[in-house]
Amino acid sequence: MNSDGVGEHFDGVAPDYDRWKAKAHHYYSALKASLAEVVPAGSRVLEVGCATGDILASLDPAEGVGIDISPAMIELASLKHPGLRFLVHDLMKGPIDERFDYVVAADVAEHVPDLEVCMRAMAGMLTDRGVLVLVTANPAWGPVLHLAELLHMKMPEGDHEWRSRTDIVTAAIGARLRERSFTRSLLVPRDLFGVRGLDSARWAYGIRQRFGLIQRAVFDAAPGAHAPTPGSSG
Ligand SMILES: C[S@@+](CC[C@H](N)C(=O)[O-])C[C@H]1O[C@@H](n2cnc3c(N)ncnc32)[C@H](O)[C@@H]1O
Repeated sequence: MNSDGVGEHFDGVAPDYDRWKAKAHHYYSALKASLAEVVPAGSRVLEVGCATGDILASLDPAEGVGIDISPAMIELASLKHPGLRFLVHDLMKGPIDERFDYVVAADVAEHVPDLEVCMRAMAGMLTDRGVLVLVTANPAWGPVLHLAELLHMKMPEGDHEWRSRTDIVTAAIGARLRERSFTRSLLVPRDLFGVRGLDSARWAYGIRQRFGLIQRAVFDAAPGAHAPTPGSSG
């Protein structure tokens, strides 16, 4: 997998992006709620891979910045959310020169060719007490998601690779981040009457932790991670 075609792919998806999200509104509501559990309203927030900016806006930041490799996504985001700031930036090229209390990345990790490089870039945009929240799809759902894509029931993902917990934690260790929590939620990503109780039932907690579609990993910046290591050139 390489990131050469990623911007072009999402430029092509951009005009229909919000329509795809509306189709998967149950999933997106759960995704936003999962992020809002960690990121308090009124924070200074960066969203990487922000697409049309709705997730960032839903977090109600005091200062919100979104970056994305796709110029078409950034153009739409800027039109939709004039109170937030959006920049075209490829995460694989490193951090932007700003620091945030919260960096969030929703459904982006599967599109980057090197997860550790991506994690280092995100770690480099955290304040010393900053928090990174990474949300990805559980790879156990890979075949279902693939089928849904073939049946045009979900957005075409382009080149991607679902990330396991081990992939994420290993990359985070390489980026000198400290794991705070890893949880899974959402067993029923559609509004199916009678089955949704699985997403809140206490008895189903263990099943959700194993098979929930939404994986949320929360990391703290390691103290002193921004200081140059002895003998390095910075
Ligand atoms: C599946 S979309 C998710 C968008 C948004 N976070 C959401 O959940 O609605 C992935 C986004 O990540 C962006 N992206 C992929 N690779 C990137 C990179 N290397 N740097 C910045 N953005 C990237 C894509 O352009 C796309 O908008």
